[in-house]
Amino acid sequence: PLVLVLNGPNLNLLGTREPEIYGRTTLADIEAQVRSVAHGHGLAIDFRQSNMEGELVGWIQEARNSAQGIIINAGAYTHTSIALLDALKAVGLPAIEVHLSNIFHREPFRHTSYPAQAAVGIIAGFGALSYELAVAAMAKLLKQREA
Ligand code: DQA
Repeated sequence: PLVLVLNGPNLNLLGTREPEIYGRTTLADIEAQVRSVAHGHGLAIDFRQSNMEGELVGWIQEARNSAQGIIINAGAYTHTSIALLDALKAVGLPAIEVHLSNIFHREPFRHTSYPAQAAVGIIAGFGALSYELAVAAMAKLLKQREA
C-alpha cells in the first residue's frame, strides 16, 4: 500500500523556522523517519511539500488513483482551506491530520481545522514523532480495512 504524506506551506523551512516551536528537525529528517517507520509496516511512501494551496489540492486529487491513504500537515492552510477539505472529501481516502505543535495550545486562530472534518483523526503536539505516530495509525487502519 502507498501512503501520500503531504506537507503544506513553510514546512520546507523546518530546522530553522521558529525552532522554539517546531524544533530543529528538518523536513528531510522527518521524511527519513517516516520512510523508516513505514518500511517496518510494509508501506510505501510518497512524501511531498508545497507552499501552494492549488498544488496540494492537485496532489490530493491524483492520490485517488494511486494511494491508499493520506497523511497531511497542511500548515497554515489547516486553518483556512475549504479547498483542501473538499479535495479530501472528494477522494474519500482515509486521511490522518498531523501537526508538530499542539495547535490547541497556541493562538485562537490555530484552534480550528478544515481538513480535520475529513480526517479519521488528528495527531498534534509531538514534534516529528507526530508523523511517526500517524504512519503507525495509518498502517493499522489499512490492515483493518483489508480484513
Ligand atoms: C503546523 C501548525 C500550523 O498552525 C502552522 O501554520 C504550521 C505548522 C504544525 O505542524 O504545528 O505551519 O501545521
